[in-house]
Amino acid sequence: MTQQASFTRMQDGTLEDWQIIGAAHYEEFKNTADRFIGMLQSLEQHTLGFACDQLQHALMAGTLARRDGASDEHIVIALCHDIAKVINVPNHGAIAAEMMRPYISEDSYHVVYNHQAFQGEYYYEYLGAPTDLRLQWQHESWYPLACKLVDEWDAPAFDPDFEVDPLDSFIPLMRKVFHDQPIAIG
Ligand SMILES: [Fe+2]
Repeated sequence: MTQQASFTRMQDGTLEDWQIIGAAHYEEFKNTADRFIGMLQSLEQHTLGFACDQLQHALMAGTLARRDGASDEHIVIALCHDIAKVINVPNHGAIAAEMMRPYISEDSYHVVYNHQAFQGEYYYEYLGAPTDLRLQWQHESWYPLACKLVDEWDAPAFDPDFEVDPLDSFIPLMRKVFHDQPIAIG
């Protein structure tokens, strides 16, 4: 039988309780990659008016990054930059960046977090918003990567007929990036 903590209020927790909880969390971390893979698969249900569904978009962005010779981490952020659209579209960049933060570099975190503002160059004029929002970050270390992800891998990736690399081909990379590791619990 699975061990469980004895307390019903955190105030009463003991060292043994927290050892049980810590061990259970460590086991759970091994499922992180599968959670990301499952969310990615569910993007197929979201089209949002674009010419292709969001899974095709994700796979095309990941495929373009891979064919561009990007690192494993950069391929994975290209693949997963819109993954949080399954939760909430308006702040999907921020949600995705926070979801991936324990596993990616600070630069990659900022790229995912702010990618929508960079994309504004292509459509914010239709919303009455400034199109040059990206320039506020032009001196940041992650600016070139953000431009590459958005301009070369993300923005061109809405072709329903493009032959994308299959999701299965990205799974080893996802398992490598979203590896199990202990983090703060609570
Ligand atoms: Fe995108």
